[in-house]
Amino acid sequence: MNKGIALTGIKPTGVCHIGNYFGAIQPALELTKEYDARYFIADYHALNSIKNSAIIQEYTYEVAATWLACGLDPQKSLVYRQSQVPETFDLSTILLAFTSKGLMNRAHAYKAMVQTNEELGRDIDDGVNMGLFTYPVLMAADILLFDADVVPVGQDQAQHLEMTIDIAQSFNHNYGKELLTIPKPLIRKETQTVIGLDGRKMSKSYNNTIPMFLPSKKLKKLIMKIVTNSQTIEEAKDPDTCNVFTLYKLFAGDDQQSDLRKRYQAGGMGWGDAKQALFELMEEHLGPIRERYNQIMADKPYIDKILDEGSVKAREIASEKMRFLKKEIGM
Ligand code: TRP
Repeated sequence: MNKGIALTGIKPTGVCHIGNYFGAIQPALELTKEYDARYFIADYHALNSIKNSAIIQEYTYEVAATWLACGLDPQKSLVYRQSQVPETFDLSTILLAFTSKGLMNRAHAYKAMVQTNEELGRDIDDGVNMGLFTYPVLMAADILLFDADVVPVGQDQAQHLEMTIDIAQSFNHNYGKELLTIPKPLIRKETQTVIGLDGRKMSKSYNNTIPMFLPSKKLKKLIMKIVTNSQTIEEAKDPDTCNVFTLYKLFAGDDQQSDLRKRYQAGGMGWGDAKQALFELMEEHLGPIRERYNQIMADKPYIDKILDEGSVKAREIASEKMRFLKKEIGM
């Protein structure tokens, strides 16, 4: 039986935190059970904002090592670098001819920059490069090149996926055939949002994140900073309104959860104890992943090898699709 294809791009932009882990990495890796899964590092997408070669290279290694450490198996799934699959840019050029400028004007990322420029009295296109402006087209090419059936992404990418579908439909409509597979967005629900140290959504912009690979001691120090109320040790506590317990639930099995819940409700347990329990459980889960991550990061040639091999396989699929499409459009 032919499995459907799941594909997702990962922008190399700095260290992952546990919000990314539960919100993006784990759900995307889950899909390998049901789908033929493909994961790529969207380095040309990152180029729009990162112009420093050492940084973009380091980030590429970091995200690759993160996903590998979290269980991405290159034997089972395709893993590659976008920049090593030039067919993407071939398709992107074709799709540009099917994309109205008006559609790009409506893209959130571009619109937000225009609005900021307006507010500051600058030229509306100040700081906007064409890579940013046509970002949704490149993303459409990433997806359509591999006939992805489903694309797992966060809510922030929902509009980009609608645009992919729009562009693919115009293309198919023009030729009167389903030449491009229309993908289905798998948008992660906000209920899966992971809270940060202060109880708000975990986000770099709130400066409340718990990075994935902190060394033990630093992790403990950070956990001790989680915001709690001022109840005394003796008082019975409500687990359901507590940031520590909310984070604990991410890592705990049912039994562990109900044990800690009872300790909260019985009173006599201070916040330091609850945080210690959280720290131990996180250490148990993240410790082995961190160890693998450090091992992989210490062996960059290994990462290169995986990405090179994946890119060769990806190009085989991609060039076949391009041969087919080019013939269909008369080239
Ligand atoms: N734009 C996505 C992000 O910023 C990354 C991305 C690029 C992507 N190409 C993709 C995601 C194709 C899914 C499919 O997170």
